[in-house]
Amino acid sequence: MKQRLDTLKAEVMAALNKAASSREITEVKQQYLGRKGPVAALVKELGGLAPELRRAAGESINAVKKALEAEVELRLSDFERREQDALLASETVDVTLPGRRLPLGSLHPVTTVMSEIEDFFGDLGFEVAEGPEIESDYYCFEALNIPKDHPARDMQDTFYVNQDAVLRTHTSPVQIRVMEGRKPPLRIIAPGTVYRRDSDITHTPMFHQVEGFMVDKDITMSHLKGILSSFLKHLFGKKREVRFRPSFFPFTEPSAEVDIQCVLCNGSGCRVCKDTGWLEILGCGMIHPNVFASVEYDSTEVTGFAFGLGIERIAMLKYGIDDLRVFFDNDTKFLRQF
Ligand code: PHE
Repeated sequence: MKQRLDTLKAEVMAALNKAASSREITEVKQQYLGRKGPVAALVKELGGLAPELRRAAGESINAVKKALEAEVELRLSDFERREQDALLASETVDVTLPGRRLPLGSLHPVTTVMSEIEDFFGDLGFEVAEGPEIESDYYCFEALNIPKDHPARDMQDTFYVNQDAVLRTHTSPVQIRVMEGRKPPLRIIAPGTVYRRDSDITHTPMFHQVEGFMVDKDITMSHLKGILSSFLKHLFGKKREVRFRPSFFPFTEPSAEVDIQCVLCNGSGCRVCKDTGWLEILGCGMIHPNVFASVEYDSTEVTGFAFGLGIERIAMLKYGIDDLRVFFDNDTKFLRQF
């Protein structure tokens, strides 16, 4: 027995000496000291020995087993430490490298122009109101003095959801919704998304408008002209000329369209203003008595003005963009410039 133990011990030591990594040490451990290894086999043999020999043999097997296990643990931790050191030495971290910045978004130009408009009118005491984008035929047209089958409906190419519901073609229905629930005096600004069946370089089926209106006793066309002129000069500069041109909207009377001197050629005529020197910028007018009638306001008591403008159009002129569709292409190369 003693001899067998000595040979086994020498065999294991030789195997350990050959092992060159923690993994190989573990393999030796499993092979010799595991449940199916030669040491376990020797322990099993003890049962067959004469009782007087059994004890001494058991003790020497145990001693060898303990010694080998200690040897294994020693070498294992030694290899593990060296392997860890080698890994650390090969992985370098340069703490002086600049960190990675999280990309920062920016406001969409439409949003920027919208809040600039809200700020201007906010300073004049206008409050912000909103309305639904899916609107009833009544609020979008009827209550605004555009009866069914009236040719004035052709002014706006409409997406119908069903006979009675449309994607609102303008923000003017917010006039009705606000006036229905409240009494004058009113100073309201209503920004929002609108939809028309229209698509080319100056039209997208979805775009944004800001509606504004003011209702009180003795509101006149001079209030309208004064406020809108100073608004446009605020947006485009004090020297920019503004002109009011007679026009037609079913919900205002008289109605006007407002032009600014072309921002590109300063009025001398170019491709953008089609050689007129002027750019059309918004529609406006004095609120029609029929509109007041539909919200049960007495038009002998109160008067008011209203206007509506396209936000993309303003943003195009402000930032010198010649294709409206780029606003909605979601191209970050374009959007990052703002
Ligand atoms: N709603 C009109 C349009 O979209 C603009 C407008 C608003 C005109 C208010 C007059 C008064 O074309």
